Amino acid sequence: MSSNTSKPINLQTGWPSARLCASAAILDGAQQVLTSETEAGPAMLYGPRIGHTPLRESLATWLSTFYAQSMAGNPTTKDRIAISNGASGNLANILQKFADPFYTRAIFLAEPTYFLACPIMEDNGFRGKLRGVPEGGPEHGGLDLGFLRQRLRETEAEAGRTAAESGRADAPVLKAGPLYPKVFKYIIYVVPTFANPSGKTMAEQTRRELVCIAREFDALVISDDVYDYLRWPADLTGGGDDALPPPPSRLVDIDRGMDGYDEKWGNTLSNGSFSKIIGPGVRVGWADCAPGLAFELGEVFNPDVQEAVPHHDGMHRANAGPHGVSVESSMDEKEGSTALAGGFFLYLRLPDDVPHARTVASVALREHGLRIAFGHLFVVAGDEGSIARAEGPGGISRCFRLCCAWHEEEELREGVQRLADTLASIRERMARGEAIREEALGVR
Ligand SMILES: Cc1ncc(COP(=O)(O)O)c(C=O)c1O
Repeated sequence: MSSNTSKPINLQTGWPSARLCASAAILDGAQQVLTSETEAGPAMLYGPRIGHTPLRESLATWLSTFYAQSMAGNPTTKDRIAISNGASGNLANILQKFADPFYTRAIFLAEPTYFLACPIMEDNGFRGKLRGVPEGGPEHGGLDLGFLRQRLRETEAEAGRTAAESGRADAPVLKAGPLYPKVFKYIIYVVPTFANPSGKTMAEQTRRELVCIAREFDALVISDDVYDYLRWPADLTGGGDDALPPPPSRLVDIDRGMDGYDEKWGNTLSNGSFSKIIGPGVRVGWADCAPGLAFELGEVFNPDVQEAVPHHDGMHRANAGPHGVSVESSMDEKEGSTALAGGFFLYLRLPDDVPHARTVASVALREHGLRIAFGHLFVVAGDEGSIARAEGPGGISRCFRLCCAWHEEEELREGVQRLADTLASIRERMARGEAIREEALGVR
């Protein structure tokens, strides 16, 4: 079986196709604002550092409606919202203001991780201080908290010993003084809902325990909540959107709702973005967090969107497990009683009898014109343990991510067919005892 590979298919690029971007709504909104006597000026000039007040107000209203259930009658307010230039830029801002590479001991990242988070953290002084935390099995609900707690204890003990030996105070070094009123000992980075790349959704109980751990160890949990709004029933033959359960609770709302909340700083920050629901080119996002954090974030840096739902269905249906490939992502994740799916990605696992995903990706690109994102891309940079876990039994080196937002449905089907052809040809070669050649692949 061989597929027509004349037109390259890219299931690696994790962006929405331009057709899904809310261009018409942006044009309409811009027209209204820029022709308004009162709004055109503020829109074109420097504004408050924390962000344009009406935008913060309408974001607070929109978020309070969308997450009404988990906010339990305690809506978010504009003093908790700081406008950003997108989730990636905001990640850098958060680290600049609330983390000190000489004091903040480590950054823990859920594994597999959104790979562009690593270089942002490294650029902010955390090279060599990134630590992976496996998602774990179904019993862990999306993050192995036993592993995380153990590593936090070890790291804390080590920091105590180092401080005692050096005779220096265990206090921020670079980020000291009134410009840095709060510096955390740890950062924990997660994408708890429809994660990139795994598509998984963290269980409610795991979210609660994670907040407790963050409080215990003086950690700030940065939660990229960028896919929450792209959701649909996993069983598309059932009810429509009306049948959707409420979205999973954000960590920031869990923190705020639990006794002992630190009203000024909190231990959680929801990192939001319009990139997935309007278009990444708008470069606008927000943080929803305790007012002290929101205000200080403003000191660092100077619109109906629900139509943008990608073409997950076509790819998922086309992917009914040929060649022993299994679906890892949360296509049938249960939240409450209704299965919920969402995000941009389908995350799959290869069977044990073919080489790991990087080799498969190399053959797919070279011989079938198909690009896929392989597991090695999602290990935590600079953490040897993360690589060892990826390549060990059940590790993520056998997994790969397909994006369903970039191509149209027909191309998605063709892409999945090419993947099947790739696996078939690898199997044939292996049966003949031939070696499978792997070439270095770029990230995009
Ligand atoms: C988990 C996650 N966070 C952040 C981003 C980037 O967001 P932004 O465009 O707002 O910087 C992405 C985009 O792929 C993502 O998957």
